[in-house]
Parts: sequence; structure tokens; C-alpha cells
Amino acid sequence: MNNLIQIAYFLTAALFIIGLQRMSSPRSARSGIRWAGGAMLLAVIITFFWPGMHNYFLMIIAVVTGTLVAWIFAKRVSMTDMPQMIAIYNGMGGGAAGAIGAQELIAGSLSNNGMVLLAVCGGLIGAVAFSGSLIAFARLQGIMGSRPTVFAAQQPVNLLCLGIAALAGLWLILTPGPALTGLFFLFALLFGVLMTLPIGGGDMPVVISLYNALTGLAVACEGFAIGNAALIVAGTVVGAAGTLLTLLMAKAMNRTIANVLFGAFGQESTAAQGEVHGSLKAMEIEDAAILMAYAEKVVIAPGYGMAVAQAQHKVKELTTALEHRGIKVKFAIHPVAGRMPGHMNVLLAEAGIDYEQLFDLEEVNPEFSTTDVSLVIGANDVVNPAARTNAASPIYGMPILNVDDSKNVLVIKRGKGKGFAGIENELFFADNTRMVYGDAQEVVNTLVQSLKQL
Ligand code: TAP
Repeated sequence: MNNLIQIAYFLTAALFIIGLQRMSSPRSARSGIRWAGGAMLLAVIITFFWPGMHNYFLMIIAVVTGTLVAWIFAKRVSMTDMPQMIAIYNGMGGGAAGAIGAQELIAGSLSNNGMVLLAVCGGLIGAVAFSGSLIAFARLQGIMGSRPTVFAAQQPVNLLCLGIAALAGLWLILTPGPALTGLFFLFALLFGVLMTLPIGGGDMPVVISLYNALTGLAVACEGFAIGNAALIVAGTVVGAAGTLLTLLMAKAMNRTIANVLFGAFGQESTAAQGEVHGSLKAMEIEDAAILMAYAEKVVIAPGYGMAVAQAQHKVKELTTALEHRGIKVKFAIHPVAGRMPGHMNVLLAEAGIDYEQLFDLEEVNPEFSTTDVSLVIGANDVVNPAARTNAASPIYGMPILNVDDSKNVLVIKRGKGKGFAGIENELFFADNTRMVYGDAQEVVNTLVQSLKQL
């Protein structure tokens, strides 16, 4: 029986890997979720056959409650609230890994010191990911303000807290027991909270991704401690994928992980980037439609404003209307456009826009010099040329979409609102740029109607 269980756990691990591999492309991502979900279901079922397992009634209640709660919340959540949902689910993963560690440490059932050390490491990392993710959730949900929480002697207090947790963890190797385990987890959880408090709401997506990587690591540690192959493989895969995603996001935002985690301690200022010259030139929607109607190639660069306005379905209608006129339409997707990884891809896919029309930054940038009209919809920072040209700008060095290379640039936004980085955008003042003011959904809708009448 034991061998059968181990084989089945290896099977779930293989299914997890297939699922993750399929998530690498928007075309196969949905099926990837199903493969990974199937693997999770199999893992839960196998656990009921684990030798020495009892408390079946409690296990069933836990599975049914978790399934129901997750089902209801996942059905209700709106796309803009997805980051906080990911934060809370991710925190649950860390908490589950921590709980396995706690159970093993309290029971004192691990066979040698190496196993106890792994359970302690997994418990520490899992507890930090759990309580840190709860703070991330509270910030993104608006329960806590989004400004960093900074207080005097914060770094020494954080270090002290981590030090006590680490000492208690090491002590557990010598004298395992419930009281010391409680102390260890108390300080580990506290450290997770304290570590996340000085990070502002805007950096939370990177932090969530980092905690996701930590959760994977915690799960893998616990897998080694209790000899569970599925936990080892799934945890390692999640840890590696989360680390890569965190690094990718940080690079695309031109930040280092250390700057995200500790930036608030030094209170780094988004200092003045200098004056932006020129004037904003508005264009009527109907005139913008005429400009687009006579273009050969249009590139659409969507951003956070498109997500806020939920304009993706109107953007699909606009694409169809342009294509009916024989105009080539492409989408320029910046890796951190919006507020979560893949934000634009998900919205555009939801509206039925063909994946073949979506182009990454590196692919699309050479295209702009041959583009008649670039249509920027609710994007700001990801199209700000200051990232290339102004060394004093806080986003200097961040890779951006070079829409300013196009013959004409149309920018849809409501007014003079700044982007996430809180800085002025010289693109909006450029000679080849025209501002089309209004809510993205309303403007794109009027563009479609105007195009149909031409
Ligand atoms: P932003 O720079 O945030 O700019 C969004 C623009 O949309 C604003 O300037 C705003 O101007 C406009 N807007 C808001 N609501 C609108 C509406 N209803 N209709 C039309 N326009 C609207 O967006 P971006 O260019 O997508 O850049 C994303 C930023 O977020 C980057 O700085 C990135 O580093 C950061 N970030 C991204 C992530 C991920 S993973 N994607 C995570 C954390 C941070 P008005 O107010 O004038 O309308």
C-alpha cells in the first residue's frame, strides 16, 4: 500500500509539472489550471489512504469547507481584485506548510535532527509567507492604508524578532515540545507581519510573488521532513517559478528585490525628474477615428486604465472595426502593464482577442517606426520615454514600449492623472501625440461608432 501511495504522489507531482508547463502560454493556460487542479484533487484523495491516518470526519469537514469558501469567492471576485485573492490563497499555502511543521514538531515524531531542522525551516518560511500575505491582502483590499508603515527602530525590532524565532527553532532540535513550538511560531508570524508593514501597496504584487516563492520553499522543506514526494516536487516547482516571476517583475519595474523589501526604510524619494516642455494637445474622438481609419497599421498599447474602465470588450469591437477596413492591428503588451502579471493578456483574452495579435515588448518595439497610429489606452508609465532619456527619472532604465517612435500617437485617458510611478509623462506633450480625453470604455465605444459611420 505504501508503495502505491508513493507512486500516486509521484503521479500528482508529474501532473503539477504538466499543468505549470501549460500555464506558460495564454492559449494552453486554462487547461494547465485543470491539470494542476486534477493533481491537487488526486493528492487530497491519496492523503486519506496515508498509513495511520484517522480523524476522517474532520478531514472531510475541512475539505468541504475549503472547497465551498474558495468556490464562492473565486466566482465573485472581479478581475481588478484578483491580486488580493492570490495573496490570500498564497498565504493559505504558506500557512498549510507551517501547520504541517507545527504538527510534526509538537508530536516530536521526526526521526532525526536533520528532519527537525527541515521542519523548522519550512515552519519559519511558511509562517512568514502566511502572515506577510495577510498584510498584503489587507493593503490591497483597502483594509489597511497603502502607505508603508514605518516606525522608529523598525529594523532592529524586525531583526530581534527573526533572531528569537531562529533561536527557538534551533532549540527545538535539542528539546522538542509544544511550548517552544508555540514561541517559535509566534515570533515567526510576527516577523512576517513586521517585514511586510514597511512595504507600500504599490509593491504588493512583487511581494505576493516573493511570498509565493517562499511558500513553495516551505512546502518542499516539509515534504522532505515527512517524506512526501508530491510536496517536495510541487514545492520546488512553485518555489522556482515564483522566484523567476519575482525577478521578472522586479526587472520590468526597474527595481531590485532589496529595494522593494527595504526601500521604505531609506524613504527613497521619487525625486523631481525635471521640467517637461511642450503642451498637451487634445483631439476630438471623431477626428481620432478619421486618423485611424486612414492608417495601414495600428498598434494598441493597453494599460491599467483599460482594466479600470473594463474597456476590453469595446477594444475588441474597435479591433474588428479597424480590421474590416483592412487595417493591420497589433497589441503591444508590457510585462508590468496594469497591476498584476499577465493583467492585459487576461483581459484581452477574456474579450476574445486573438493571442496571435499580442506582442511582447521585445517583439513589438521594432514595429513602432513603421506604425501609422499607436493607440495608448489607459497606459502611462509603460510608455514614458523618460525611462530611456531622463537619468533623473525614478523609472530611468525601465524597459518601455517605444510608442513615441510611431508616426502618430493617440492617448486615451481621463485627464492629467499620473501613473503608478506618480511622474509626468513627456510622451503626452510630444508633437506627434494627441490626447483623447475620457473614460477608456466610453471613448473606445465612440471611436467604434464613428468608424462605422465613415
Ligand atoms: P499607470 O502608469 O498606472 O497609468 C494608468 C493611467 O490610466 C493613469 O495615468 C490614468 O490617467 C489612466 N486611467 C485610469 N482610469 C482610467 C479610465 N477609467 N479611463 C482611461 N484612463 C484611465 O499604468 P500602466 O502604464 O499600465 O503602468 C503600470 C504601472 O504599475 C507601472 O508603473 C508598473 O511598474 C506598476 N506595477 C505593475 C505591476 C504589474 S505586475 N503589472 C505590479 C505593481 C506595480 P487619468 O487619471 O488621467 O485617467
